[in-house]
Amino acid sequence: MRLGPALTLDLDGLAVYRREGPGRPAGRTGFGPGVRPVAFRVMTPGKPAVDPAPARTADSPLPADHPSHRLADSPYLRACRGQRPSRVPVWFQRQAGRSLPEYRALRREGSILDTIADPELSAEITMQPVRRHGVDAAILYSDIVVPLQAIGFGVDVVPGVGPVIDRPFDREADLARLRPVEPGVDLAHVEATVRILAAELDVPLIGFAGAPFTLASYLVEGRPSRTYGRTKALMLDRPELWHRLMDRLADLSIASIRSQVLAGASALQLFDSWAGALSPRDYAEFVAPHSRRIFDELAPLGVPMAHFGVGTGELLTLFAETGATVVGIDWRIPLDEARRRTGGRVVLQGNLDPAACMASWPTVAQRVRRVLGDNGGHPGFVFNLGHGVLPETDPGILSRIVELVHEEGSATTAD
Ligand code: CP3
Repeated sequence: MRLGPALTLDLDGLAVYRREGPGRPAGRTGFGPGVRPVAFRVMTPGKPAVDPAPARTADSPLPADHPSHRLADSPYLRACRGQRPSRVPVWFQRQAGRSLPEYRALRREGSILDTIADPELSAEITMQPVRRHGVDAAILYSDIVVPLQAIGFGVDVVPGVGPVIDRPFDREADLARLRPVEPGVDLAHVEATVRILAAELDVPLIGFAGAPFTLASYLVEGRPSRTYGRTKALMLDRPELWHRLMDRLADLSIASIRSQVLAGASALQLFDSWAGALSPRDYAEFVAPHSRRIFDELAPLGVPMAHFGVGTGELLTLFAETGATVVGIDWRIPLDEARRRTGGRVVLQGNLDPAACMASWPTVAQRVRRVLGDNGGHPGFVFNLGHGVLPETDPGILSRIVELVHEEGSATTAD
């Protein structure tokens, strides 16, 4: 079965993703009892097996054959460095996911973590939105809880709910359950996915991890929360334990992102999706130092470092001081105001309301133009949504957004 120019899917593989046995243990090899391997042949017609020697980007610690060199002048990487891109780059948070019928066809039932454990399948899912929409960057198909699962913390992602933890984090003894991750062993399947993508993609791949606060909110609450009551109680009552927990989680984020970049990701994004639940004072005291350490330790890799959270309008000044080089903005404040709050020190990414993508095309187009207008022609800008694509979104609308941003974005781009 032809899936697109880059891939041929062995039809036999399609039946495979049905899990036959009871819950498969948290595996890292991808195949367990009752699961037959999915067979993919990755082929790019006309593409030479070995690329011509890529120009090495000055001062990069990454190997000469790392895709970030070959793609250094891609619109996304140029914009992330604040340089004028050939067109305004666009990608969508959660672009690989349920809005795509081809994703739903491959995904079948069962935990998303089983799908992520299969490198060929995960690489294919990562490429689906790139092929369909022509976006300027790919985001690795994985999840923020993958490193937690990899160290055996007992987590699953329940469809329609989100991450659920077997035994939530509650006391000092629970720190022992958060051992350091060894990416080459524990996250070998993620590295394998990245390597496939590094060879196949013509756009930069974004690696990512969850930030300590957002990960802690799942660990402590045990499931998605609206109030973060338990998390905040631990943070306020037991600050010493809190900081030790945050330290462990920061180590996890650093190790997992670093391994993705070394394997071939050309940019990174640290998701602190739920940090907006905190006041600026609490964020500054309990969270920012840990996020800052993550960016400090990853900075030597020399790739763009994005940071994103929802409802972070009041935290943007602090976000811009974490060391991130790109800050994702949700839809609650316009980009010109976000630029003011971040002091013009960072590249901005955002910020179309994902729910607005459910409106009719003329309305969506008007909102896209408004975002471009709010950016006011700054080259350091990456078009995106203010949060993830809603599963009910018509993918045709997303493709039209990409087209519109590419067509009209440059007209509003001035130095
Ligand atoms: O294109 C992409 O962004 C795909 C890669 C990706 C996923 N999760 C796959 C996924 C990324 C970058 C994430 C990050 C992630 N996971 C975050 C941070 C980003 C954000 O949205 O704020 C968070 C908070 C999670 C935790 C999580 N995983 C939630 C809240 C959910 C939704 C649960 C549901 O079913 O509604 C998931 C599941 C998940 N992760 C899906 C996808 C495509 C959807 C479920 C599925 O396909 O089974």
